[in-house]
Amino acid sequence: MIMLRFEIICKDFSMFLCCLLCLLIGFSKRANSVNFLAPSCENVTYSPNTTNSPFRTNLNFLLSTLSSNASRTNGFYNSTALGRGNDPSNTIYGLFLCRGDLSVDVCQQCVASASKRIIQECPNQKGAIVWYDECLLRYSNQYIFSRGDALVRLRLSNVQNVTESDAARFTSLLENLMDKIQNRAANDLSGKKFAVEEANFSAFQTLYTLAQCTPDLSTVDCDSCLSNAISVLPTCCRNRVGGRVLYPSCNIRYELYRFYNNSVAPAPAPPPSPPPPPLPPVPTTSSSKGSSRTIIAIVVPVAVSILLLLVGFIFLIRRSRKRYDAIVEATDASQFSTPESLQYSLSLIQAITNNFSAENKIGEGGFGHVYKGTLQNGQEIAVKRLSRSSMQGLEEFKNEILLVANLQHRNLVRLLGFCFEGEEKLLIYEFVPNKSLDCFLFDPEKQHMLDWSRRYKIIAGIARGLLYLHEDSRLKIIHRDLKASNILLDRDMNPKIADFGMARLFGADQSAATTKTIAGTYGYMSPEYAMHGHFSTKSDVFSFGVLVLEIVTGKKNSSFYQSDGAQDLLSHCWKNWRDGTPLALLDPILGNSSARNEVIQSIHIGLLCVQEDVDERPNMASVVLMLSSRSATMPTPDQPAFFARSKTESFPREFQFDASTSNSMPASVNETTVTELYPR
Ligand SMILES: *[C@@H]1O[C@H](CO)[C@@H](O)[C@H](O)[C@H]1NC(C)=O
Ligand SMILES: *[C@@H]1O[C@H](CO)[C@@H](O)[C@H](O)[C@H]1NC(C)=O
Ligand SMILES: *[C@@H]1O[C@H](CO)[C@@H](O)[C@H](O)[C@H]1NC(C)=O
Ligand SMILES: *[C@@H]1O[C@H](CO)[C@@H](O)[C@H](O)[C@H]1NC(C)=O
Ligand SMILES: *[C@@H]1O[C@H](CO)[C@@H](O)[C@H](O)[C@H]1NC(C)=O
Ligand SMILES: *[C@@H]1O[C@H](CO)[C@@H](O)[C@H](O)[C@H]1NC(C)=O
Ligand SMILES: *[C@@H]1O[C@H](CO)[C@@H](O)[C@H](O)[C@H]1NC(C)=O
Repeated sequence: MIMLRFEIICKDFSMFLCCLLCLLIGFSKRANSVNFLAPSCENVTYSPNTTNSPFRTNLNFLLSTLSSNASRTNGFYNSTALGRGNDPSNTIYGLFLCRGDLSVDVCQQCVASASKRIIQECPNQKGAIVWYDECLLRYSNQYIFSRGDALVRLRLSNVQNVTESDAARFTSLLENLMDKIQNRAANDLSGKKFAVEEANFSAFQTLYTLAQCTPDLSTVDCDSCLSNAISVLPTCCRNRVGGRVLYPSCNIRYELYRFYNNSVAPAPAPPPSPPPPPLPPVPTTSSSKGSSRTIIAIVVPVAVSILLLLVGFIFLIRRSRKRYDAIVEATDASQFSTPESLQYSLSLIQAITNNFSAENKIGEGGFGHVYKGTLQNGQEIAVKRLSRSSMQGLEEFKNEILLVANLQHRNLVRLLGFCFEGEEKLLIYEFVPNKSLDCFLFDPEKQHMLDWSRRYKIIAGIARGLLYLHEDSRLKIIHRDLKASNILLDRDMNPKIADFGMARLFGADQSAATTKTIAGTYGYMSPEYAMHGHFSTKSDVFSFGVLVLEIVTGKKNSSFYQSDGAQDLLSHCWKNWRDGTPLALLDPILGNSSARNEVIQSIHIGLLCVQEDVDERPNMASVVLMLSSRSATMPTPDQPAFFARSKTESFPREFQFDASTSNSMPASVNETTVTELYPR
């Protein structure tokens, strides 16, 4: 039937081309209307449930303000509707965010649809979000501006899988692109906090990625929101050809087709995929009527079948592109809103660790042994069994746990909960499958598993995690014992910082910037901390610098011997830097195939961080910025602190540990692990 109509309409080739064009335009037109994804309604409802209740009246006002302003902004607008008669219980906060590549028209259209839809989907709620392909609209009776909200998320995964043979390469390419756009979006100073990036996956396939935050977030909040979103990808979208994670404050997406506006793509546009088949040659008008008829008789059916195939193909592709598994879920962050929800029963932990059996033991640290277990829901956990027990009161402890548990970042080991029963004191952490960084870095058998690009990613990951600890909007946390054995590696060898927040849990003085308890680890301590007990975020920066130099050289600072007279790693690095031979420092196992610039840049950053003058050391925000923009100009490092100029001159070991507080800081000297955090 369709065939028949085509034979009638497509009498000649100009008509045929016209048909083709119309069909293609028809397809792309359809893709232009806005596309609803999902709602998320809060459970709190308002009353009375009528269209003229004060809350509803105010909400209508807010929504109309938002949609009318959609034509006048560059994709983001926030607004507050004060309760009538200054009744704060009816005040509503609202915002919308349009995808960064869209024109004002599309944004306006989306916000208009969304403000109708949000009332339909959540007719009676005090807070709601609707997600579209093109925009997000949100209102709440709570203040929602300038904060990275991660209480709910929507995740979508394309039902199609990458072929098995391509899976590893696909994941690695995706990871690379995600790292890039996370950096670029968080540091986007254009006022949009938006980034897209693409890369060739195969000769025919290009991977497209996008990241965006609401522009009212700070760089750190945007970075950590995106970081959370990216860490969800392995759960929702492993090996899927497309996926999205959408939080109220940020979102990421990747596809094997171009889903964002061409004009914002940074790289020159690659050939479109799928490539259109070549069109049949158009006969010239000079040919006789008769011969042209025969040509038409032969070519038209062929062309029509090609056209039908093409249309069918496009249709199938479009359909498969649109098939997603969508899940709106409350996130872990919202589950952990009460101290009670963090509490695990001793009997449960005993059951899943075989009563702390030797087979379940996976390590021991400064605070006690660590055991592995698996919860009923399949989640693997690591249980730290604290060896000494003098701690602060249970209520205080619970509050501190809540604070530390709410620190969520891809590059931090997550604290899931605790168990305090009788003599047992347990901390429950997420399980991180690979061992700590030192097990790879300093082990001749395993060193080769960390090639340069992996090491560079580890450096960047640690920097991000540390930045989050230092500049998270609620707490300012100084780790105080950053070292290779406190960096755990996940399944994909991404770094996660462990053992932060311990001092807070152990009731150490949280406000003093000076402490008599010198309790870091030999080789990583900054001179001012080791000698005078002064600590600050810059003492962490120093430890980070040592760690970077260890990662580049594959050598341990604390047990360093070199024939060139240098007695510690820092002097060795400094000498080579000064002599213009920084590449000689590179771990020989990496050969010289590595990216020269990245190596030199890392050594440069490492040396900046270990400078003796505290003020000269960069803060972590600058470090992250230096790592993300290769072209950034960096200051010249000064000579590093040689506080351990010779073995005999180094401070005595007893000094590292103050006996008066040892009851609350259990550990052998070598393993001493104390972390400090205090409110800003
Ligand atoms: C909200 O309601 C849903 C469904 O009724 C329920 O599953 C969820 O636990 C509720 N959330 C809260 C925070 O009460
Ligand atoms: C409120 O009204 C809407 C429609 O006006 C209805 O769908 C909804 O069930 C009502 N909610 C309650 C809690 O009565
Ligand atoms: C835009 O928002 C402001 C306040 O947020 C409001 O006063 C103004 O009326 C809105 N613009 C339009 C065109 O409605
Ligand atoms: C928009 O958000 C900022 C905080 O990012 C806030 O200071 C401002 O008052 C908000 N504007 C309106 C109209 O609510
Ligand atoms: C794509 O971007 C260009 C330039 O910014 C704009 O003119 C065009 O309308 C955009 N297209 C869509 C669909 O938003
Ligand atoms: C993709 O892989 C997942 C898990 O490996 C499987 O459950 C799913 O059915 C696969 N989808 C398709 C379309 O093959
Ligand atoms: C993808 O490959 C094409 C040629 O095959 C090249 O022109 C283009 O620059 C490549 N794009 C990227 C982002 O590497």
